[in-house]
Amino acid sequence: MKNVAILLSGRGSNFLALSDAIEAGQIPARIVLVVSNKPDAPGLIHARERNYEAVCIPSAGIEREAYDRQVVEELSARQVDVVCLAGFMRLLSSWFVQQYPRQILNIHPSLLPAFPGLHSQKQALEWGAKVSGCTVHFVDEKLDHGPIIVQRSVPVLDQDTEETLSARILEQEHQIYPEALKLVCEAKVRVEQRRVLIRK
Ligand code: GRF
Repeated sequence: MKNVAILLSGRGSNFLALSDAIEAGQIPARIVLVVSNKPDAPGLIHARERNYEAVCIPSAGIEREAYDRQVVEELSARQVDVVCLAGFMRLLSSWFVQQYPRQILNIHPSLLPAFPGLHSQKQALEWGAKVSGCTVHFVDEKLDHGPIIVQRSVPVLDQDTEETLSARILEQEHQIYPEALKLVCEAKVRVEQRRVLIRK
C-alpha cells in the first residue's frame, strides 16, 4: 500500500478520478494528503468533502525552493511515497524532485513532447494537429519533460473549439491517470533512459 499525496491548484477533476479509483480498490494506495497552493481551489473543497486531510500552503510571493521545503515537510510527516501533480500550477524545484526520485507523476493535456506549457489544447488547435491527447509522465527537473508512463490520443475535429477539444482530452485524462498510478504503485514500471518499460 503506497501513501499518495495530491498537489493541485484548481478544479481538481483529476484528483477526483484518482480518488474514485483508489476508493474503489483499484489501486493499492491511500490518499494521505491533498495540498493546494491556492486557498480557493475547488479541489481543496472536494478533498475536505471526501474527508481527506487537506492543507493549503499559499505560494504567492515565496521563493521556489523555500516553498517546496514547506510542502515536503508536510509530505514527510505523512510518509508519502508517491506524489501526484493534478493541475498543480507551479514548477517544482530540483531539490523537491530529488527528494522523490521517480515517484512524482504529472498529467498533461497533450501528447508530449508536443505542446508543453500552458494552453496545450489551444496550441494543438492553432498548430492544426489532427490528433492530440494526454500524457502521464514522471516529473523531472524540466517542465513537462520526464519519462512517459501512459499516453492516450484523441482526434481533433474540424468543428472543435478549445472547450470541446479540452473536454474530449479530459475524459481520457481521467482514465489514464488512475492507470498510470496503478502501474507505479504496483511497482510494474522500470525506467531505462527515457523509456518506461511496463511489466505485464
Ligand atoms: C488538466 O487538464 C491537466 O492535464 C492539467 O491541468 C488540468 C487540471 O484539471 N495539468 P483538474 O484540476 O484536474 O480538473
